[in-house]
Amino acid sequence: MAILGIESSAHTLGVGIVENGKVLSNEKVMYEIGTTGIIPAKAADQHAGNIGTVIRAALSKANLKMGDIEGVGYTKGPGLGPCLRVGQLAARTISLENKIPIVTVNHAVAHIEATRHIANAKDPIVLYVSGGNSQILGIIDEPFRHYHVFGETFDIGVGNMLDGFAREAKLNPAWGSSVAKLAEGGKYIEMPYTVKGMDFTFTGLLTNAVRMLKAGVNSKDIAFSIQETSFAMLCEAAERALLLARKKEILLSGGVAQSKRLSEMMKMMGKSHGADVFVAPNDLNADNGAMIAIVAEKKLEHGMNDTLDRCDIDQKFRADKAEIKW
Ligand code: FE2
Repeated sequence: MAILGIESSAHTLGVGIVENGKVLSNEKVMYEIGTTGIIPAKAADQHAGNIGTVIRAALSKANLKMGDIEGVGYTKGPGLGPCLRVGQLAARTISLENKIPIVTVNHAVAHIEATRHIANAKDPIVLYVSGGNSQILGIIDEPFRHYHVFGETFDIGVGNMLDGFAREAKLNPAWGSSVAKLAEGGKYIEMPYTVKGMDFTFTGLLTNAVRMLKAGVNSKDIAFSIQETSFAMLCEAAERALLLARKKEILLSGGVAQSKRLSEMMKMMGKSHGADVFVAPNDLNADNGAMIAIVAEKKLEHGMNDTLDRCDIDQKFRADKAEIKW
């Protein structure tokens, strides 16, 4: 089956084509965030202007015509309403015009499942870490097969915490890698460390880091310390979930999974429990259309087609609401 997937939940408009689990193309155009962050209406306007071009680019790269596509999937959420609408409308149009099935895809599940698929992981504990999200998940079967959220941030995502510090320290975007670079050679300073069971918070850490920065503490030492502290918090919570759920695999996914230090720490923790650690390749950590197509194909293979009237968007669509039949 050749399946086309559309991702448009935030600043990336991505279109990917997958056939029998193999990625044939994965094209994208990104909205420049600059220093203002994403302005949803502007990003959506740009996505709407580019959607035709990106779809054509994905088809051409895959060496296919629209007539060859047998199903279409799009990101239902979570994400920014105006941006999600662009993908939804494009997918509905493609489905109607070509009389092919359509499926909705959860953005977080797409990041995770694309990695599980590529890494051939069976039943991992997942650390999903990005700008807006920080969750620890694992598949459970009750009351339906889905990713149960074992733990999550009570306030901001770890990525937003690093970005917030980077903005204050006037580092260059992309902020996560700028913080990592600044942290090289830094010394550890004690920072607020907040883990409750398998949940955690990051705003105290950010407030403390910004206060230290304003007080003239070496920014290198602060960068090093917020990385070490936040990543240690994530490792502690993930370790608890791994042992509780008695799993033997850990999977890192989402934008912050690109951090070498985080995967190094997670591998140390995994090793001490005999668990394999998989890290998503960078092109799947960044938002993209292929991850949507991968999940769309799995859903179609399992008869999980959506009817057009159910093809809506949901800005707060949680991973634990999406059924995983495979
Ligand atoms: Fe994402």
